[in-house]
Amino acid sequence: MIGKAMQDAMNEQINKELFSAYLYLSMAAYLEDRSLPGFAHWMRVQEAEEREHAMKFYDFIIERGGRVALKAIDAPKSEWKSTMEVVEEVAAHEAKVSASINALYELALAEKDYPAQIMLQWFITEQVEEEKNAAEIVASLKMIEAHETAVLQLDHRLGKRGNS
Ligand code: FEO
Repeated sequence: MIGKAMQDAMNEQINKELFSAYLYLSMAAYLEDRSLPGFAHWMRVQEAEEREHAMKFYDFIIERGGRVALKAIDAPKSEWKSTMEVVEEVAAHEAKVSASINALYELALAEKDYPAQIMLQWFITEQVEEEKNAAEIVASLKMIEAHETAVLQLDHRLGKRGNS
């Protein structure tokens, strides 16, 4: 059975994941408004992933005999100064989520909650990917702003190299 401290912390994490979904959906709306459907699509996919993350915690609490308790989700901001500001905020937000997942893992260690440790390892790996994806978009946008689009095109070509 899940301990009370872990149950409460995971309920908080459900809220954080759902806020992430809400934030990315708001970013998608802003990007649609700026006629950037590709960026908006990326945000929509990201939003769906965040809801999946929330449901992983939701299901885990139930599987361990705990009680899910949903809290109010804060309203996300709806305006940004630029596309760069949006993607930089994604990167900063994912770093915060990583810190939150790491804190949950520390709690799982302290509580000797082995099932939670195993479950959270998936999230730790996922956050490496999430931070990497966000950093790559920020870096690409910086190159575009520096008019280094030819470098980006070359990178795209190099990325298609096969293994042979
Ligand atoms: Fe659920 Fe983007 O971390």
